[in-house]
Amino acid sequence: MIRALRKWARTHTERSRYSPVGIAFHWIMAFLVMFQIGWGYYSSWLPAGGDKLHAYEVHSAVGLPILLLAIARFGWRLMIPGPENDADRQGWQTQIAYAMHYVFYIAFFGLPLSGWAMWSSIAEPGPLYLAGVVPWPQLPFDQLPLTTRWRIMDLAEDIHLILVVTLLLVIPLHVGAALKHHFWDRHDVLRGMLPEIPDAEDPREATQHNPREPQLRDERAPG
Ligand code: HEM
Ligand code: HEM
Repeated sequence: MIRALRKWARTHTERSRYSPVGIAFHWIMAFLVMFQIGWGYYSSWLPAGGDKLHAYEVHSAVGLPILLLAIARFGWRLMIPGPENDADRQGWQTQIAYAMHYVFYIAFFGLPLSGWAMWSSIAEPGPLYLAGVVPWPQLPFDQLPLTTRWRIMDLAEDIHLILVVTLLLVIPLHVGAALKHHFWDRHDVLRGMLPEIPDAEDPREATQHNPREPQLRDERAPG
């Protein structure tokens, strides 16, 4: 099974592209995480009351699936190596990009886990629902003394905030680097993370990852 999956993924990664599964993970999670940052910030500014509580219910309902996606994505990444593309041959820039990927994975786990810990350590935690539908358990903090729960709450709150601030620093660098590689260096890295749309006029393009190479243009030129 794993061998078959690897073989299938290689048909993409050999062309410097992420597999469709890797691409789906990337964009779904990028969207959810960016939504969470905006929504979490908005919720934190609401005055205490029913609206704030509801906002945090939405926040947890969207945040918990990120934990499951993180587990699935991490498993996928361990099983299926990513492609090697132009951006993987840039020395220190490549090392920074890899470091940023690690930071993202830490946040994918750390944010939902610290959020879950915060929610479970309040005096009378309300119910949690995965995606607002599937009941999700509290962490087993209810038997702990109140002071221990407050300490957990403080620690989890700090971790949550540190990870949010880290993402706010790292996401613009990551997006900026992706755009710079694409538009400035003309590397294939961003294209490898976008869904593949075969070109009906030129079926060869479905199997070649770098249609902007000059010799390709020359081949097509008349005469
Ligand atoms: C990737 C997922 C998540 C992101 C990006 C995220 C982001 C944020 C942001 C930006 C804030 C406002 C700033 C702050 O107080 O730290 C916040 C607060 C909060 N989040 Fe999350 N969050 C995520 C997951 C979760 C989950 C799954 C839960 C609960 C199960 C949760 C519970 C909370 C709570 C209770 C607060 C209020 C903290 C306070 O009042 O100090 N978060 N989150
Ligand atoms: C418009 C926004 C974004 C663009 C254009 C973008 C682009 C890219 C590109 C081109 C790669 C491939 C890099 C390589 O192979 O070295 C990548 C990888 C990655 N990106 Fe993004 N990204 C965006 C937003 C985000 C966000 C918001 C997150 C996290 C919250 C994120 C997390 C990641 C991770 C973890 C990887 C490593 C891929 C893997 O799991 O193997 N990206 N991104």
